[in-house]
Amino acid sequence: MSKRNVILKSSISGLLLAVVLLFLYNASTSETYEYIPKLNTNCPPGFKKSADNECIAQNLYMQYDSPNNKGVGGLKTGLPEVRDGFSPQEIDLGRYLFFDPALSGDGTISCATCHSPSKGFSDGLATSIGANNHKLTRAAPSLWNVGYLKKLFWDGRATTLEEQMQGPLFSVEEMNNTPENLIETLNSIATYKEMFAEAFPQKEKKSSIELHEVYKTITAFQSSLVSLNSKYDRYAHGYHQALNENEIAGMNVFRSFVARCAECHTPPLFTNQQFAVIGSPEPDGLPLDPGAQEPFHDKTLRGAFKVPSLRNIEKTAPYMHSGNFGTLRETVEFYTKGRGHAVPEDEDLIIHWHIWDPQLSDYELDRLVDFLKTLTDETFTPKIPETLPSGLKPSV
Ligand code: HEC
Ligand code: HEC
Repeated sequence: MSKRNVILKSSISGLLLAVVLLFLYNASTSETYEYIPKLNTNCPPGFKKSADNECIAQNLYMQYDSPNNKGVGGLKTGLPEVRDGFSPQEIDLGRYLFFDPALSGDGTISCATCHSPSKGFSDGLATSIGANNHKLTRAAPSLWNVGYLKKLFWDGRATTLEEQMQGPLFSVEEMNNTPENLIETLNSIATYKEMFAEAFPQKEKKSSIELHEVYKTITAFQSSLVSLNSKYDRYAHGYHQALNENEIAGMNVFRSFVARCAECHTPPLFTNQQFAVIGSPEPDGLPLDPGAQEPFHDKTLRGAFKVPSLRNIEKTAPYMHSGNFGTLRETVEFYTKGRGHAVPEDEDLIIHWHIWDPQLSDYELDRLVDFLKTLTDETFTPKIPETLPSGLKPSV
């Protein structure tokens, strides 16, 4: 063997040895290595960061001044006030919590289990399934644009996102956790402690995570779920080619005083945020859902539900509080089957005066569905975290 070959061979084996040693070193240290994701320092799309590190909502509807008195169904109407001003770190931490099943009593259910980004932040079920396979009595609403809503739940029994989330978190039928156990779980996860310290820099390092911080960050995340860039929106801001003929025909039916959809599903949010009794049916055999009557102890609200936004409605079948309609076509057809046609005989509901008998043709119903599909926009869908501080798999 020549001298050159010897040098070559020994340097190759030396290199191999180094690689093996490096590999062994990594393997021996990997157990103690914990990956701590750095929270995002940028605002999500649709928000601009202020000098105070607050994410402020930005959208084209800001160019139109008032959400009120602009005519029902008007295109150039502003949006109601939104929950914004959260920091990028609060929003990002809320994202980890939203997907983390560690928030449930037995570590199997996250918010995203019933509000999955792949299903329009709903769950594709007629009514949701909670802890211990408990079947709930209502459908999971979409969370798109939820930061604009003043009433939450189908019956409007909560007014803030912070208040709302304590429902599912601490209900035995949903996430089946307790405030004490939730706080204990989060405080036992070192990575969460680091992350909360990062999101709340004014807080003493190493001090305990508190419930109000959990509520605030999940609220921050939910308020960042903005969908305002649909084909309809492009049309509304003046790009007329954005909608085709059928879709425009559908929009005109939607806004017409015959169909009256826009009276309640008022653009640009496609809800006027009021209660309305429309008399939609329960699935066979189920008793009437009293809706807002219960929380407000008001008989005139028997069977009343909050008018839902119709944004991304294409993605969130089945429809209505009961999930009773499988398709959009069936849902819009409900409105032309006669006022109160599905109300049980022994009930005397005060049906809203805009629910009547518009006698829409099949053609008009098909166009309404075409139009509803122009409200789809998922461009700002947030990323599902690849790993979670709890070490559990994101539940979606
Ligand atoms: C087991 C399924 C399930 C889980 C888990 C769940 N939700 Fe829901 N969510 C629902 C259902 C069903 C409703 C409607 C209930 C009602 O109106 O009575 C709802 C309603 C909401 C609403 C009201 C939306 C509106 O338009 O009024 C918000 C906001 C919400 N959930 C957020 C969350 C958050 C945040 C979490 C996690 C802390 C969560 N949900 C966990 C099923 C679930
Ligand atoms: C009087 C107010 C009112 C009018 C008018 C109205 N809606 Fe509704 N809409 C509601 C309410 C309230 C609900 C929820 C009812 C329920 O869950 O039982 C609803 C539900 C829906 C849903 C299902 C939403 C979901 O998330 O499941 C669709 C789709 C819909 N409406 C479309 C229309 C169309 C199209 C028209 C016109 C033909 C129309 N609505 C007219 C109040 C109204």
